[in-house]
Amino acid sequence: MRKKIIAGNWKMNMTSDVARDLVDGIKAKLPNPLNADVVVCPPFTVLKSVADRIAGSAVDLGAQNMHWEKSGAYTGEVSPEMLRDVMCNYVILGHSERRAYFGETDEMVNRKAKAALAMNLKPIICVGETLEEREADKTKQVVETQVRGSLAELGAKGWADAIIAYEPVWAIGTGRTATPEQAQEVHAFIRSIVRDMAGAALADAMRIQYGGSMKPDNAKELLSQPDIDGGLIGGAALKADSFLAIVQAAC
Ligand code: 13P
Repeated sequence: MRKKIIAGNWKMNMTSDVARDLVDGIKAKLPNPLNADVVVCPPFTVLKSVADRIAGSAVDLGAQNMHWEKSGAYTGEVSPEMLRDVMCNYVILGHSERRAYFGETDEMVNRKAKAALAMNLKPIICVGETLEEREADKTKQVVETQVRGSLAELGAKGWADAIIAYEPVWAIGTGRTATPEQAQEVHAFIRSIVRDMAGAALADAMRIQYGGSMKPDNAKELLSQPDIDGGLIGGAALKADSFLAIVQAAC
């Protein structure tokens, strides 16, 4: 049985006061029993204040990006070690917004994934097709290239720690969700690629999150699909009530 994982990607939102209120609100009303991993991924500037606030709670911490080098002359970048220093256990890598606006390639995402794993950060590696690619019937081709490139040569421990997030670009922030059937089809396909790359045991254990307009009213149906093991939530993660309702749907 794979444990579900619900992660909030706050993107470029939140200053420290609002961030603290949000995590206080999440902490206060977590489902009991909690049968899912819960992660918040704030922007770099509030990681420390959120880390202090969630210490000792069931809420875990992730970042939204990082560089693959340990340190050095990379102005504006943040290293895996720096993320560990502020208590991160997860890091989102290769989000479609990073790929589209900041030129991240599968090769860069792969370097980041290996660097994250070497520092005991669990990478949440994002893949997904654009609307144009879906309409041209290229979804599987695009997703397969991203999975094979971004997750190349992770090693057995790496495969065990890594998480994949399938985020169809056309569903992100648009209110247009993939239907449970559409999402399940791609998730099962991703798992078959992982099986080919890493073997059946690691593929069966791999958690694959869905992301793209996941909301309280569609979460349950998406999360009940056999190959959907969690959610990577954008807009609905910015309010405690809607994030908690999705966590509840996973429990
Ligand atoms: P929305 O939930 O706002 O569509 O964003 C999804 C996402 O990009 C999470 O990483």
